[in-house]
Amino acid sequence: MKEEERILELRRELHRHNYNYYVKNAPEISDQEFDSLMRELQELEARHPEMADPNSPTARVGSDISHEFVQVEHAYPMLSLGNTYNPAEVRAFYERVADGLGGEPFEICCELKFDGLSIALIYEDGQLVRAVTRGDGVRGDDVTENVRTIRSIPLSLPAGGDWPRRFEIRGEVLMPWSSFEALNRERELREEPLFANPRNAAAGTLKSKTSSVAARRRLDAYLYYLLGDELPGSSHYDNLQAAARWGFKVSKAMRLVRTPEEIFAFINHWDVARRDLPVATDGIVLKVNNLEQQQRLGYTAKSPRWAIAYKFQAERARTKLLEVTFQVGRTGAVTPVANMEPVHLAGTVVRRASLHNEDIIRQLDLHLGDMVYVEKAGEIIPQIVGVDTAARDASLGEAVAFARVCPVCGAPLVRYEGEAAHYCPNDTACPPQLKGRIEHFISRDAMNIESLGPETVDDYFERGMIHDAADLYRLREEDLCGADRSREKSARKIIDSIRNSRSVPFDRVLYALGIRFVGRVVAATLAKKFGSMQALRNARLEELLETDGIGAVIAQSVVNFMAEERNRDLIDRLAAAGVCMEMEQEKQLSDALAGMTVVISGTFSRHSREEYKHLIALHGGKNVASISGKTDFVLAGEGVGPSKLEKANRLGIPMIDEAEFLRRIGEAE
Ligand code: IVH
Repeated sequence: MKEEERILELRRELHRHNYNYYVKNAPEISDQEFDSLMRELQELEARHPEMADPNSPTARVGSDISHEFVQVEHAYPMLSLGNTYNPAEVRAFYERVADGLGGEPFEICCELKFDGLSIALIYEDGQLVRAVTRGDGVRGDDVTENVRTIRSIPLSLPAGGDWPRRFEIRGEVLMPWSSFEALNRERELREEPLFANPRNAAAGTLKSKTSSVAARRRLDAYLYYLLGDELPGSSHYDNLQAAARWGFKVSKAMRLVRTPEEIFAFINHWDVARRDLPVATDGIVLKVNNLEQQQRLGYTAKSPRWAIAYKFQAERARTKLLEVTFQVGRTGAVTPVANMEPVHLAGTVVRRASLHNEDIIRQLDLHLGDMVYVEKAGEIIPQIVGVDTAARDASLGEAVAFARVCPVCGAPLVRYEGEAAHYCPNDTACPPQLKGRIEHFISRDAMNIESLGPETVDDYFERGMIHDAADLYRLREEDLCGADRSREKSARKIIDSIRNSRSVPFDRVLYALGIRFVGRVVAATLAKKFGSMQALRNARLEELLETDGIGAVIAQSVVNFMAEERNRDLIDRLAAAGVCMEMEQEKQLSDALAGMTVVISGTFSRHSREEYKHLIALHGGKNVASISGKTDFVLAGEGVGPSKLEKANRLGIPMIDEAEFLRRIGEAE
């Protein structure tokens, strides 16, 4: 096959696998196989720039090039919906519709109201040509490049579908709870401000200036409204089912009903069941199903008369603000915390809420003694969402002011240009910063010194036994077991796990240092590129910037860290204690497969597929995803796909089973 044809074939295949995985939730191939097809396509596309296609599956990974957003006008204005929290108004809506239609029968389509950002997607000839945010309803931002990274949005519809030549489909871009929590965990480790909810996180992501950021953040999208001149069906429901057939992600939580009772049953069911959904929902939407009836009902100035949103009550409590305290984190960032009278909210007792930063305190116009509203949505930490100003009286307490000095060490705080956070600049002596760095060092994803917890670190620190992470390696059993030797057993465990941490691989050591903006993924990237602490120490800014995935902020942070005497000293002492300072070299075990190209197919019993890949490399071979004339043999397990079998036969490529493979590499029983 010519490379050009292979490119087209790979694009079709990858679009299909994307759909299977992200829309149908039923992948046909493993992640590894997917990745290797993707790599093959990337390589071929690099060789054939004349075949560039903005909708190629390779666009899903985004680009690091910064872009601006252009405003574009919507073909059909993006209206919002009338909304209500009140069942009586739902009934009133139903009756208005019945009246408006002069008593003729009608159906209502009940759907979930997804809590994200509305998006309009425009397709021409089956290709996504543009994606636009709602904006002011008349014009929105062209966010096509970022939207292309959303795996569940089809970029190119499979040929032969009954889609109109040109149509628009609208829906909601969402950040699933799992992505949201992972993102906030990562931001917490880097002490970056947290997103308050998935909607804000999705908004920030959609407006991100580099699409590679959007690609990493894993957004999802549900589509709920089809527009155009040549729609396939005469009802909303039928049109969405058609869209689902074309490859769009359409929620299955949709029901056609005829009575208010059925509407309430739908509402009551989802008010509870929504807790198990992977994305945030904040209500349900009711739409008259028949398009001709919709047209007759028409629009008010702001919203359609044929639809309404019913919003679920957010769980909210009212309580008294007693005090605002300030916490200092590992990087010196100072977080204000509201301490409140305990109150029940969504199944737990809430006493504290993060106030995030000075700007938020200002926006709320908080005063001590205020009655405040607290909300908790999903798993998120409680938030103060407002003040009951009507409850204020003459005894209005003092306005909450941000701390001027560090509550622990007393150093005057600083707020850097363009940042919302305040910092304690005393990073060489401020105790919570020193302790925080040690706690980070021993944490599970870092050195995993599990027998030591934050309390023990605190204790050793206060007693002057440790000042930084390197001091851990100088602790002796007799220092830890107490004068009466009562803690002998736990002391031994601690010493053992500190000693064992010396075999933690270099990338995690690098992460454990707690360099700002160097999370686990960045640490792994740097470790792979530079190979050793020594090389990273000597790396110039330009070299760091040449690394894939390393931007200016990270690169500068690494350079600054390595330039500081104190950090160099810490690294030297860790190295002297035997902590791993370079990547393990992978030893080659034999030349049994030297120069050979091997395709793996099927499932195996003796080793996993990943292990076989590894074994092929260890014995000098190369694993590739698909069979070609250059393939030396197929390592075939159970259930090799028929197309692979056929291809191997046609090209005369030998199939070798697990046992034979292990014999060849000398690993037979
Ligand atoms: S239909 C003209 N259906 O809620 C009707 N909207 O103000 C257009 N939303 O702007 C909207 N889930 O962002 C529709 N199943 C759903 C929805 C939904 C969420 C959003 C959408 C809209 C807002 C309502």
